[in-house]
Amino acid sequence: MKRFVALSLIMGLMLGATAMVGTAQAAKTIKIAGMKAEGEPETIGMHKFGEYLEKLSNGKYKVKVYPNSSLGKEDKYIADTRRGTIEMCATGTQVAAFHPAMAMMETPMLYDSYEHAYKAINGGIFELLNEGFTEKSGLRTLNMFPLGFRHFYTKNPVKSIDDIKGLKLRVPNITLYTTFAKECGINGQAMPFAEVMSSVDQGVIDGGDSPLSDITSTKVYEKCPQITLTGHILVIHSLFINEKLYQSLPDQDKAWFNEAARLAAEDVWKLVQDMDKAAVKEIEDHGGTVSEPTQAMKDHMAAAAKRTWTMFTDSSNDKTYVPNAQAVFDKAASFK
Ligand code: G3P
Repeated sequence: MKRFVALSLIMGLMLGATAMVGTAQAAKTIKIAGMKAEGEPETIGMHKFGEYLEKLSNGKYKVKVYPNSSLGKEDKYIADTRRGTIEMCATGTQVAAFHPAMAMMETPMLYDSYEHAYKAINGGIFELLNEGFTEKSGLRTLNMFPLGFRHFYTKNPVKSIDDIKGLKLRVPNITLYTTFAKECGINGQAMPFAEVMSSVDQGVIDGGDSPLSDITSTKVYEKCPQITLTGHILVIHSLFINEKLYQSLPDQDKAWFNEAARLAAEDVWKLVQDMDKAAVKEIEDHGGTVSEPTQAMKDHMAAAAKRTWTMFTDSSNDKTYVPNAQAVFDKAASFK
């Protein structure tokens, strides 16, 4: 009898241990790649998503965040997510390469404020931009959240557009950005985000434009301490998931992914304005100057933005044409 009890106990423990291992093994790891550093809105959004997904799924999914281009620069990790070697990634208008409407996420001078953008994106623009995107890209967009409005960082003060026309300014390697730079009369040097700091160090560029969160995380203000608050583009990033993986999930799991992404985006929308304020303080505390552009410069950029909008309405260019562009403009205007 004693031997039977001991044997049962051992078997019970073994079964328990097996069950524990089983649970641990069952947790599926979701890798998310991004381009920004720890502490930036994009990376915060990825971590928040992970926390929510783990909680909602009761540990069925674990999320591993790879920030700062640690799985490669944006083009590489987007390709890896499309082919499914990475489950998810965070990026922005880079995905316009597959679906021109996605460039409209960052239409210059479309939004007056974060509040305006939040209402318009959640009030219909998200759906308008995503119409047909998944079919073309093999990716599903789970949310949209802001990284911040773009401002210029330069070595010398910028009082008018003429002060930046002769400079070599970094722009993202995205048609929307190169077109807008051209319309502004700026000498845009297209390159991925991860190359910005080395290019400043080597004198390949004289400055560029970025959200304040990028300007502080890279500490580019140490080299280019003049920040001009033009706010010409609101950078919007999203979490994308490989569509085949998404479709393979049970309905309950799909709902967890959707809800985790929605909650993560809500958190970032709430955080970003305080992050902007903290960034201005950091730049000024380190000797940088943060100034408003002149009205003439604002007007110049607004006119350049409006000319850039025509890339979306020009049906003769199928690389940039967006059939429902006017609907996007109208939707944005309706929330002003
Ligand atoms: O959404 C596109 C945006 O991320 C491009 O800007 O400066 O992050 O390369 P940047």
